[in-house]
Amino acid sequence: MHCLFASGPELITIPAPTGAIRNRYRVNAVEVIKGPTPPLPQPGWELHRIEAATPTAASSPVQFQGETGAAQYTDPNAPYAAANGLAALPADANPVLAVIIPLRKTAAWYALNQDQRKALIPAHVDVGVPFIKTIHRRLFHSRAFSKDYDFITYFEFRASDETRFRQLCQALRDPKRNPEWTYIDRDFEVWLTKLA
Ligand code: HEM
Repeated sequence: MHCLFASGPELITIPAPTGAIRNRYRVNAVEVIKGPTPPLPQPGWELHRIEAATPTAASSPVQFQGETGAAQYTDPNAPYAAANGLAALPADANPVLAVIIPLRKTAAWYALNQDQRKALIPAHVDVGVPFIKTIHRRLFHSRAFSKDYDFITYFEFRASDETRFRQLCQALRDPKRNPEWTYIDRDFEVWLTKLA
């Protein structure tokens, strides 16, 4: 599946293919952890997410895109696999916050062989597993679309879980708990409220 996140100061109209998932958001804040960054949305802007089997094009001032892919390092049937993650938040979850975190890995990461990279993923999974019941997540691969980020990670959770979500990100970014993160050189967060 292809996923486009498009944002701008004006109302966005993007034709989406039949069967596409379309969600609308309001941008709350942008937090840069490791820049420089590509053009970023501003607080108050509208943002749309369109997920579809075929790529969708937009002419909005800001856009991020990626596509889903097979698990590269972990068992796709594991309980913690993205495909087994929280599919959607229960209807009581209102308001729902969403965060887009584009990430890039260094040349040193891509110079590691498959076994070396695979050995770095279990710590990431250990940090993440306690959150799978409350945090909905999606992972998109973006190297085909951008030089600024290799992945787009997308999360949804209840506003009451914001602190827990921040603790999850802090733990993943702690090289003592998750050495994989020493290979991240671009990292920024776009905080949203999901409107529909
Ligand atoms: C909610 C808890 C989380 C769990 C259970 C989790 C689990 C996983 C798993 C199992 C993979 C490996 C997929 C594969 O085999 O290809 C993965 C990859 C990844 N995760 Fe997480 N994750 C979580 C949270 C996060 C967060 C908060 C971020 C970003 C801040 C993140 C960023 C990534 C990235 C970028 C990859 C791809 C790494 C690569 O292919 O090199 N994850 N995650």
